[in-house]
Amino acid sequence: MSVTVSLINNKGGVGKTTTAIHLADGSQREDNDVLLIDLDAQGSASLALGCDSMEPSIGAVLYDDVDPREVIRTPPGSEIDLITGASSLKNADIRLSQEYGREQLLTDALDPLEDQYDMILLDCPPSLSLLPVNAIVASDYFVVPVEPEYLALEGIGSLLDTTREIREGIGTAAELLGIVVAQADFRANSTGQIIEILREEHGEAVFDTVIRGNVRVSEAASYGVPVYEHAPSSTGAKAYSDLTEEFLHRLQ
Ligand SMILES: Nc1ncnc2c1ncn2[C@@H]1O[C@H](COP(=O)(O)OP(=O)(O)O)[C@@H](O)[C@H]1O
Ligand SMILES: [Mg+2]
Repeated sequence: MSVTVSLINNKGGVGKTTTAIHLADGSQREDNDVLLIDLDAQGSASLALGCDSMEPSIGAVLYDDVDPREVIRTPPGSEIDLITGASSLKNADIRLSQEYGREQLLTDALDPLEDQYDMILLDCPPSLSLLPVNAIVASDYFVVPVEPEYLALEGIGSLLDTTREIREGIGTAAELLGIVVAQADFRANSTGQIIEILREEHGEAVFDTVIRGNVRVSEAASYGVPVYEHAPSSTGAKAYSDLTEEFLHRLQ
């Protein structure tokens, strides 16, 4: 199994980065060789795994043709391999839009890594601009983290339409692996209802595991480690390890 999976949602703050980290670290704990690539200029995934300097980042690979193997590191907070994101990615649209085959730049750049990992995860910025499009094109599957809010429901449909257009337009094969409800707050009466609507609309695509808001999860990020390390018996750690199990099962 050598598989590439993107975490996609054009909305910010929905749990993409947190899910990326915990699927990556969780899969590594299940004996997979995992590389996580942080495609966000904010570098949140890199920060949440304890990195304090971000360069050299995936920017060097995309802009300067640096071999990705030269920028891979082991972050302080995890045993996975990581390529950091950095502020240089802010200009990706401008810097890369004139390049030939601009939607396939990441696919080509990752060529030297072929079959070096069981799994490559791509944490995307909150947009559907050139970098996330490159991520979709480079992926076998994508996972969509969502917040269970009414206003988010419609956004998911249009996000899935856009990914379909990207796939058809560019002719790649990335498939939806699943929609994951992240940061559910069951104190809000609407939460259960919204999850029900999601399951009606998207059926099996919605992961069984629902990730609830759990303060241990956000705390862990500030300590630069996954919640499995920070608070192994917390509900957050349990939820993310259940999600990892489901994720690995879907990939089989
Ligand atoms: N299950 C959770 N419980 C508590 N806080 C969470 C949870 N998931 C994410 N967060 C926090 O919410 C914020 C946004 O999450 P993040 O994963 O960075 O979203 P995105 O990458 O989609 O912008 C972060 O501060 C993160 O620590
Ligand atoms: Mg993020």
